[in-house]
Amino acid sequence: MEGKIHIPEAARLHCCGLDQEHQQIADYINTAAERIQKGEALENRQVLDDMLDLFSRHFRHEEAEMRRVAYPDLPQHSAHHAEIIATLKAARANGRGSGFADRDWIERFFAILIEDVLRADLGFKTFIEEKGLGDCDDMKG
Ligand SMILES: [Fe+2]
Ligand SMILES: [Fe+2]
Repeated sequence: MEGKIHIPEAARLHCCGLDQEHQQIADYINTAAERIQKGEALENRQVLDDMLDLFSRHFRHEEAEMRRVAYPDLPQHSAHHAEIIATLKAARANGRGSGFADRDWIERFFAILIEDVLRADLGFKTFIEEKGLGDCDDMKG
């Protein structure tokens, strides 16, 4: 992983603060990577718990917005979110949260973020654009 993760303009939804949440998760991952780089010992469990918290809150909010605008692919999208959360919870249940975080560990979360933002959410972005529902960032949900 080289440099900082920044959500590209092409992946921005421009809807209800969801972009800010994506960037907030990216910022967390960036900071964790920087701290590890500096030789700080971050506990895997702490990173896993924080990621579970940030992703859960983001997914709940995103699904609420999808429901609000009657996004037709909500069921599949919710299932995709649930799969990610189940993977993170399984990692915790399997004791994968022990030890200290290294770049590999952090890169897994980076991959999850990319999977949500740059792949799964793009269908919602297209829907928002087609329906002219964007530009509600100032509503900050
Ligand atoms: Fe998302
Ligand atoms: Fe999503």
